[in-house]
Amino acid sequence: MIIQKIEESKFTPEVFNIKVFGKAFTDHMLLCHYKDGKWNVPVIKPYGKLEFTPAVSVAHYGQGIFEGMKAYKGPDGEAYLFRPEENFERFNKSAVRMDMPQIPEEIFMDGIRTLVDIDRQWIPDKYGMSLYIRPVMFGTEEAISAKSSDEFLFSIVMAVAPNYYNKPLSLKIADKFSRAANGGTGFAKAAGNYGASFYPARVAREEGYDQVIWTDDATHTLIEEAGTMNVIIRIGDKLLTAPVSERILNGVTRKSILQLAEDAGIEVEVRPITVKEVYEAHKSGELKEVIGVGTAVVVNNYAAVGYGEEKLSLPELPAEDCFGSILKKKLVDLQMGISEDPYGWRQLVEHPIEA
Ligand code: COI
Repeated sequence: MIIQKIEESKFTPEVFNIKVFGKAFTDHMLLCHYKDGKWNVPVIKPYGKLEFTPAVSVAHYGQGIFEGMKAYKGPDGEAYLFRPEENFERFNKSAVRMDMPQIPEEIFMDGIRTLVDIDRQWIPDKYGMSLYIRPVMFGTEEAISAKSSDEFLFSIVMAVAPNYYNKPLSLKIADKFSRAANGGTGFAKAAGNYGASFYPARVAREEGYDQVIWTDDATHTLIEEAGTMNVIIRIGDKLLTAPVSERILNGVTRKSILQLAEDAGIEVEVRPITVKEVYEAHKSGELKEVIGVGTAVVVNNYAAVGYGEEKLSLPELPAEDCFGSILKKKLVDLQMGISEDPYGWRQLVEHPIEA
C-alpha cells in the first residue's frame, strides 16, 4: 500500500457539530485501480477530486456497488470497527451480481484499517456518533458499448456520521413502485437500487410521507424493506421481519438487532409479513412499532404508515417499553464499547499500522 499523507489536516473539533450526514469528509481516501485483469497497488492519499471523461462506463450503465460501515471511538480512546467481515463478504456478493471483479480481502480490510488508523482523530467521541466508512467500486472504462467495464476503481471515503434523521418519519406502503424483483439486484448493494428509489420517495413526499415501505413487486401484499433499510414490525410483544431473499438486503444491523432481541428474551419471528396483517393489527391496537434498521440510521421508529388513503399512526411508547429504543441502546452501547461484546463483533483498529 502506498501512503501519501496530507500536508496539513483539515480537522477541527467543530466538525463534530455537523448536523448533516455524510458531508464532512476526512483528510484521506483510498484508491485502487483494476486494469488488465488485476488490481494495482492501493494508494491512500489526501481526499480530493478524480478526473474522468463523460464516457466513463458507470455514468452510462450504472455498474457500481458500495458498502456502509462505521468506526467508533471506545472509552479507551481506541478506534473500533463493527463486524467488518460481513461488509467485505457482501461487497463481493454484490460484485458477482454486477459482473465486477472480486476485491481481495487484504485490499478491502487492510485498506479500511489503515485509513481509519490514519484519520482516527475524525472519529467523534460523542455517544451515538461515529465515522461512516463508504467503500465503493465502479466501472471506469472509457467506452460507450453496453458491456461490462474492463476497468474499475475501488475507493474508500469516510465522513462524520451524526444522526441520520432529525425528526420522526412516516412511510407510505408501496402499492405501485417496486425496489426489487426476483432475479434482480435487490440483495446487492448496487448503486442503481438506491438511484431508482429516489423518485418513489419523492412521490411519497408529495403525498405527505417521508419514505416508502417497499412491498413485493408481484403482488404488493408483503412488507419487505423501508426506505434504505430493513424493516422490523412489532405486533403485540413479538418482532416480525421478512426473511432475506433475492429481493431483500442481508443487513448487518438487521441481523445484529435480531440477535440482541432474542438474547433479551424478545420473541422474534422471521417470516413473510403481509400488509393485511399489519393493517389489521393497527385496527385492533396490536401494531406497536414499525422499525427501520440500517448502518447509517441504526434504528429508527416510524411515526406513521400510509396504507392507501389511510394514515395509520403508531403509538408514542415510553422508551422503556419501546423495543426499537431498547434495542438501539443495546446495539450502540456495544458498538461504542460501553457494554460487553459477548459476540466478538467489535474489532480494534491497531495503532499504528505498518504500511
Ligand atoms: C446504510 O445504512 O449504510 C446504507 O447503506 C444506507 C445509505 C444509502 C445511507
